[in-house]
Amino acid sequence: MAEITENINLLPYNTFKISARARYFTSVPDLASARQVFQSDVFNKNRTLILGGGSNLLLTGDFDGLVVKNELKGIRIQEETEDRITLAVASGENWHELVMYGVERNWGGIENLSLIPGTVGAAPMQNIGAYGVEIRDVVDQVEVVDLATGDIRNFDNAACKFGYRESVFKRDLKDKVFISSITLTLTKKDHLLKTNYGAVMEVLRDRKVQKVTVRAVSDAIIDIRQKKLPDPLLIGNAGSFFKNPSIDPREFIALRNRFSSIPSFAGEDGLIKIPAAWLIEQCGWKGKTLENIGVHRHQALVLVNYGGGDGKKIQQLAMDIQSSVKEKFNIHLQPEVNII
Ligand code: EPU
Repeated sequence: MAEITENINLLPYNTFKISARARYFTSVPDLASARQVFQSDVFNKNRTLILGGGSNLLLTGDFDGLVVKNELKGIRIQEETEDRITLAVASGENWHELVMYGVERNWGGIENLSLIPGTVGAAPMQNIGAYGVEIRDVVDQVEVVDLATGDIRNFDNAACKFGYRESVFKRDLKDKVFISSITLTLTKKDHLLKTNYGAVMEVLRDRKVQKVTVRAVSDAIIDIRQKKLPDPLLIGNAGSFFKNPSIDPREFIALRNRFSSIPSFAGEDGLIKIPAAWLIEQCGWKGKTLENIGVHRHQALVLVNYGGGDGKKIQQLAMDIQSSVKEKFNIHLQPEVNII
């Protein structure tokens, strides 16, 4: 069985760069060793935390249990036709490397999800999305290990119950399954390139791109993200800290009467989505620094750790932001990041 070590600092394993210790720690390089760990006493008698890239996580203290680092690797072609290709990808693969693998071969579908930190297994968990594309648009199947029985189960796209930063894995099946691999279908030609969201078109225009290709879209998105979002290798962060809230159209009209510049997008189920970054910025938080933590200068939705930051203090900052948004707009911001 994979070796279990004790008292490990998790700083290298979370992009917020929080120093917190795990009582037990193990990494699993393949499905067989993962299943062995799930059947072990240490796993079944302790709190457990399965870790991918640690990029959507805020540790607020030491973890008195077992951390399992997912290192399952492999990309396999499952099916290929003239127009499409279906890949089976192990959950421990790095998401952005998978995107680059597709972009290099001119396979379309996930180029808008370039440079999102984290692993392939974590991607369906919160239905990662950016610039008008979500992973649910390409997923065929998600394969999981049932942690109680060790059985392998497959979920088709509908069974994943994807929503905005939501899935069945984050809700009903939370802590009950381990995502072991996903299959997704990409286009080999006639790509449905999405360039009408945010600044994508602008960047393509500025770059004088003549022919919009999978690679051109990916390059533009990498450019936008690098300008706006802090690189976790340089400044600790976990991307958007909160979800964009959705509100009832009537509530929205009332808000717009008070704040005429309020931006909005069509949300799910007839609701109106408001950018949390705007709400946070209006409350004066953008660029605010409190010792070694703060709110990013270029994107108010991203909380940052400039080095040596404490997870509890970041959590407190998040709660203070929630209170001021609630007070000014009567909107409750829900964290997107897993707070442990
Ligand atoms: N805005 C502000 N102030 C800011 C930043 C943005 O007012 O500091 C307003 C602007 O009106 C802007 C709008 O917010 O038009 C939207 O901003 P942006 O396009 O940067 O996107 P977002 O809604 O803040 C979401 C995702 C990001 C994803 C981008 C791009 C969520 C919680 N976040 O952010 O995902 O990259 O769209 O599609 O849905 C993540 O989940 O970790 C993440 C980074």
